[in-house]
Amino acid sequence: MSKAMYPGSFDPVTTGHLDIIRRAAKTFDELVVGVLNNKQKSPLFSVEERVKILEEATKDIPNITVVSFSGLMADYARENGITVSVKGLRCSADFDAELVQAQYNHLLSDGELETVSFFTRPEYSFISSSGVREVASFGGDLSPYVPDFVAELITEKLKSKS
Ligand code: PNS
Repeated sequence: MSKAMYPGSFDPVTTGHLDIIRRAAKTFDELVVGVLNNKQKSPLFSVEERVKILEEATKDIPNITVVSFSGLMADYARENGITVSVKGLRCSADFDAELVQAQYNHLLSDGELETVSFFTRPEYSFISSSGVREVASFGGDLSPYVPDFVAELITEKLKSKS
């Protein structure tokens, strides 16, 4: 039984993340989508909101659980029977960053956690949560980058913050 985890900030989840989630859910028996509770960042959406959004966006995929986690992913994986860390790669900068994280996670898990990377589909190769936040902050059309209900939530959130 293969249990994998796709960790990230997902602030907000994008169509690129959702493509990786769908492909990983087909590849592994169980996929946990892990939202990092990173106290140092000041996010657009709270961790609880991000978990809810991800649950809604993935509700048609049966073998997915969405959780939040704090601390080291390697520790969460060990405690929850997860043996694979899923990553999405868009470009060489992603590769450089993910290679480093994979090396740390290998050591931190005593070699128990494998990192498996999925290469982006070309149509998602430039999409990032930070790009979405920037387009949103200037009132641009978000429809190519996030599901419609997420675009609405972003617009509402920005209005409530202004
Ligand atoms: O979406 P992001 O912000 O690029 O995701 C980064 C994330 C959450 C995958 C990464 O920061 C992470 O796994 N953090 C948990 C802390 C950890 O395990 N660090 C060791 C590897 S460097």
